[in-house]
Amino acid sequence: MTIQARPNLAGGADPDVAGVRPAARLRGRPGLPGDKSISHRALLLAALAAGGSEIRGAGDGADVRTTAGLIARLGVTVERARSDGRRVDYRVVSPGIDGLHEADGILDCGNSGTTTRLAAGILAGLPGYHVLDGDDSLRRRPLARIIGPLREMGAEVHARRGDSLLPMTVVGHAPLQGIDHRTAVPSAQVKSAILLAGLRARGETTVRESVATRDHTERMLRARGVAVRRTELEGGGVAVSVEGGKTVQAIGEIVPADPSAAAFWLVAGAIHPDAELVLEAVGINPTRRAIIDLLRRMGAVIEERPIAAGPAAPGSGDVGEPLADLIVRSGELHAIDVSPVEVAQAIDEIPILCLAATQARGTTTLRGAGELRAKESDRIAGIAEGLAALGGQVRVDGDDLSISGPTRLVGAATDSRGDHRLAMTFAIAGLIASGATTISDPDCAAISYPGFFAILEGVRA
Ligand code: S3P
Repeated sequence: MTIQARPNLAGGADPDVAGVRPAARLRGRPGLPGDKSISHRALLLAALAAGGSEIRGAGDGADVRTTAGLIARLGVTVERARSDGRRVDYRVVSPGIDGLHEADGILDCGNSGTTTRLAAGILAGLPGYHVLDGDDSLRRRPLARIIGPLREMGAEVHARRGDSLLPMTVVGHAPLQGIDHRTAVPSAQVKSAILLAGLRARGETTVRESVATRDHTERMLRARGVAVRRTELEGGGVAVSVEGGKTVQAIGEIVPADPSAAAFWLVAGAIHPDAELVLEAVGINPTRRAIIDLLRRMGAVIEERPIAAGPAAPGSGDVGEPLADLIVRSGELHAIDVSPVEVAQAIDEIPILCLAATQARGTTTLRGAGELRAKESDRIAGIAEGLAALGGQVRVDGDDLSISGPTRLVGAATDSRGDHRLAMTFAIAGLIASGATTISDPDCAAISYPGFFAILEGVRA
């Protein structure tokens, strides 16, 4: 099947409600989607590389499909070779960056912030008039953080509400001019947008960040023949640089299983009194594994069996992403303090970590979590409301959260706010809460984890 060049309407409101009942035991090997961050990048980098790129085991959620649809509209052939519903193999054939063209209409980024920001970085260096838009949630998410640096590099970028919200127009120019940019908030999306624009810039482009965010773009550029320099900064943080004008080569890649999806099962196993779950070949990149270490610090029993690099280790040997099988068993949790740096390192896993905190003895604090308000929903408000409905003791104080436990959760109606990570957090809560828990708009889980609710039923032993 070839992807049609048409808008992706993922993330639309679904009035349905899912019900979850408590589970007596949890056992099994929950199937995981391919890593969402790596899948987006594999498609976008395949679009920049002349020739054919094979991407095996990409996440088959709505967000990654949105990126696939977007590159198709720029003149790239995207074939879905095989999908099991959660993971898909793509064959991408591109004329290369110089052969891409502006789309014949609006580029719909659906619900996907990663698509929006990374694509903007590429479009900044692609001569033409590009218009990006998305769903209601995406239209509320901040763009000034990419618009400033992309303009400084020479692209003309405009957006609604004083250049901060979608829809956004990008008039691309080549060559752009290399810059040295310090990000205001730790963001791999911002870093990646600037580095991708940097490939089309004169001279060197450098991004400095106070906390090292996920480094997939850097690893994946290196695997495609582009040198990326990384320097540790005094006082923490890193500087990452690329030289403009370098060619991105087409390669084959196997995408690891998504650690952010695995996090739901790690917490399910850790908080359920009778659980043993095995998660296979999960990406444990040092910039993504914070959730494993935070849960262990709380007392969770998580065994990690590293998978050696090489042909036998899908996704590790070729692109340098470390992998491990993770085995989680029931544990006794205690409260921890989560620093602002740790919040940034586990940004996507904070909702499910908060659920773990309701089952930990003492008061867990999370400081400096304001960035959670800029995700698919205001996740601070969503977590506080949903966990409180279930009987959790949650306090919000500005950008800080404190959660006291352990509390016996009681099934209740929860509102996912159309946010996939909230929907899955409340569904996992339903496995330990007494009575029935309902989750509004459960289909939004398919943004990152298609088939999640079927797997949830499958792990009830
Ligand atoms: C992502 C980076 C993070 C994360 C998002 C995916 C990426 O966003 O929340 O789910 O793939 O680069 P920020 O970089 O904006 O924090």
